[in-house]
Amino acid sequence: MSTTCRDQLSQFDPEVFSALVGEERRQAAGIEMIPSENYTYPEVLACLGSVFTNKYCEGYPGRRYYGGQDFTDAIERLAVERARQVFHAEHANVQPLSGSPMNQAAYFAFLAPGDTVLAMDLSHGGHLTHGAPVSHMGRVFNFVRYKTEPDRQGAIDFDALLAMARDIRPRLLLCGHSSYPRDLDYQAFKRVADEVGALTMADISHIGGLVAAGVLGNPCDAGFDIVTTTTHKSLRGPRGGLILTRAAHAKPIDAAVFPGLQGGPHMNVIAGTAITLKKAAEPEFRTYAEQVLRNARILAEDLIADGVHLVTGGTDNHLLVIDTIMSFGIDGRIAEETLDRVGITTNKQIIPDDPRPPMRPSGLRLGTPACTTRGMGDAEMHRLAAWIGDALRHPNDEGRLTRIAGDVRRLCETFPVPGLA
Ligand SMILES: Cc1ncc(COP(=O)(O)O)c(C=O)c1O
Repeated sequence: MSTTCRDQLSQFDPEVFSALVGEERRQAAGIEMIPSENYTYPEVLACLGSVFTNKYCEGYPGRRYYGGQDFTDAIERLAVERARQVFHAEHANVQPLSGSPMNQAAYFAFLAPGDTVLAMDLSHGGHLTHGAPVSHMGRVFNFVRYKTEPDRQGAIDFDALLAMARDIRPRLLLCGHSSYPRDLDYQAFKRVADEVGALTMADISHIGGLVAAGVLGNPCDAGFDIVTTTTHKSLRGPRGGLILTRAAHAKPIDAAVFPGLQGGPHMNVIAGTAITLKKAAEPEFRTYAEQVLRNARILAEDLIADGVHLVTGGTDNHLLVIDTIMSFGIDGRIAEETLDRVGITTNKQIIPDDPRPPMRPSGLRLGTPACTTRGMGDAEMHRLAAWIGDALRHPNDEGRLTRIAGDVRRLCETFPVPGLA
């Protein structure tokens, strides 16, 4: 935000300004380990606070319902073209306002109410929008769930999945996750779907940046019908969503986003998405993505060596799930609060078939995209793993937690947050 804008804000609304400054300090002073969060680029922050927010752009480039679209059309075309290139997709819709409407639009493009979707069980890693009973999608469509095998490194039994698919004949086979620490075999999903005539959809929201960088498998390359991703997690962009499809599905997808579900797209966000995708195509982004994976692996190895029990026994991607009950005898909420007190931000997490309720679950989820953006690498991961183990083993030892909090603060001072002076 420009100095003039900040001055105006601080004078007009000191309450909002002080919350903004507080959040800036919080983000800089602690280590962000929620795997779905990241620090976006200064160039993206500039676009988010730009005049693009003033403009109504209902429709698509060259086909808008309002005039004055020379520059917004240019921006959206850039974002679409870059999304197609980066993800190897035949068609891209860059208008979804965030991940949830993105998935809703994908469902409504191809499903009728009551249609069956075969999706990953939520406690095994699936997302709320993949049919949780508390989400409207869970009421509109018939979601049936497959599970993973945590004792076999989170493997998916594709023979069992095929038997299930033959039995229930889903219209859509969905894969993708928000708390599954392993990579997926998209070809195997596609084979199952083809056997039963189902459409294929992958929600790669969490790993979008890692797929874009080519360090994890790409469901577009495997011929998936629909691929969705948020733009604000490992991809490091503004808060939004992308739907990537085969050319044959372009029309129903575009119609499902607008006018099916949304009105005017947020063009300030789409400008930020265009920038993010340009960054994602640079060699530096691949180096970043490789380090995200490496950092997660180092953390996992150190924690395991320290006797910590990880769900599936490790990680292939950017996230880890600790079984805190088995490892430390504390539930995920106490673990999250303990790490909050030392300046390490994580989130409580249900684990596969968790007997405990979501607000007091058996696990804790942590990930490496944000701290890697700050430049943290191997050495910092070794220190982090030691602090996490030490803090979670002694959640009531005030002196110890204060000492670790000081160490975390000092480390953070040497790794500035992008976009903050
Ligand atoms: C796999 C997956 N899909 C969809 C979403 C929804 O995204 P949003 O929170 O932007 O609505 C998330 C968010 O965490 C996610 O992890």
